[in-house]
Amino acid sequence: MANVAVIGAQWGDEGKGKVVDWLASRADVVVRFQGGHNAGHTLVVGNQTYKLSLLPSGLVREKLGIIGNGVVVDPWALLAEIARVQAQGLSVTPGTLRLAENAPLILPLHGALDRAREAARGDAKIGTTGRGIGPAYEDKVARRAIRACDLAEPATLSAKLDELLLHHNTLLRGLGAETFEKAALLEQLLALAPQILPFVEPVWERLDELRRAGKRILFEGAQAVMLDVDHGTYPFVTSSNTVAATAASGAGVGPGVVGFVLGIAKAYCTRVGAGPFPTELNDEVGQTLGDRGSEFGTVTGRRRRCGWFDAALVRQAVKVGGIDGLALTKLDVLDGFAALRLGTGYRIDGKIFRHLPAAPGAQAAAAPIYETLEGWSGSTRGARSWAELPAQAIKYVRRIEELVEAPVTLLSTSPERDDTIMVRDPFQD
Ligand code: IMP
Repeated sequence: MANVAVIGAQWGDEGKGKVVDWLASRADVVVRFQGGHNAGHTLVVGNQTYKLSLLPSGLVREKLGIIGNGVVVDPWALLAEIARVQAQGLSVTPGTLRLAENAPLILPLHGALDRAREAARGDAKIGTTGRGIGPAYEDKVARRAIRACDLAEPATLSAKLDELLLHHNTLLRGLGAETFEKAALLEQLLALAPQILPFVEPVWERLDELRRAGKRILFEGAQAVMLDVDHGTYPFVTSSNTVAATAASGAGVGPGVVGFVLGIAKAYCTRVGAGPFPTELNDEVGQTLGDRGSEFGTVTGRRRRCGWFDAALVRQAVKVGGIDGLALTKLDVLDGFAALRLGTGYRIDGKIFRHLPAAPGAQAAAAPIYETLEGWSGSTRGARSWAELPAQAIKYVRRIEELVEAPVTLLSTSPERDDTIMVRDPFQD
């Protein structure tokens, strides 16, 4: 029995929520392995709409949720999210949610530094979510992070706060931002410790037990390959590795446990925040895609930039992300266009590239090379089988498969969970 990892294949917001929810109903446990509360999933179950940032999506399907060590956890955000979904009738207890003891914590000073640095960057800002994700990962790598397990050791907390504050207050002062007091932070952390600690455990041990018992594990990625700190459009990226390989290190399992890697891609392309976007459309077509696709960020509320499907970019994501099959979402947004374009490569300084080079100058200069396909007049919305799709829509999907060098495993044709065409069950490897 295979496990499945779900990752974004573009710049995030590909509609992972719906696909993860669909897969979660077939899994026994859902594991978050990177990112933090910068992610945002909207899940519609019956007449309830859940907005999740940090909680693994399987919780709404009453599946065990695990937050792995690769996630940076804002404990206040976690408790607030638990309270929010509990008010909607969902039960989140230490019996249904586990948190890795070695997960680094996001403190208020991380958000403050994130926002102060963005403000100082002015026009060159990255467009972060301002939630302290980058500074928290920096502290992890710099070996000064406070981790979930530290909440059980007041002496450790106290010593770590000294080191953290020396670093952060120096930076905050330099940026003209407010500094933090140790006593207040220590008091806040000690006050939330009894609420967080019941969820904390060595999750690698539990995952090992579950795996040996033949349970199905779903690894739920956040953000996407083009926001990966190594493989994305650096520096306009998030601060974690978003590729499928991270599912192993970010949960504490071997790489063989990860199983089938499902990459999610929209049938067109969007991006929030700044950074290169070769197939972006700053015209009526881009506007139409945004309106029809309701392209507003779940976390930020910002309008997403829209453009044509960039097959060269997704092919790159397939290769570096380890994607075995694609789930193509929001095909219905393309209904009624007379013609559709697919990006197949780039022209940069007179040279042709099949991939997006890493150098920022080249990325900014990349002009897309397009292939034009006929659109379709019928509707794909709500289709549940290939037979219900217009012939041109099938051609569009097949051409994407050829260009990105990966099969389309799932096709999503509306926000409804059951409006999905399954070509292959990712759990049946
Ligand atoms: P950070 O993750 O808050 O540091 O933001 C870095 C970049 O990643 C910014 O361009 C954000 O807009 C983007 N980003 C972070 N999380 C998401 C997400 O869940 N979806 C889409 N973009 C995201």
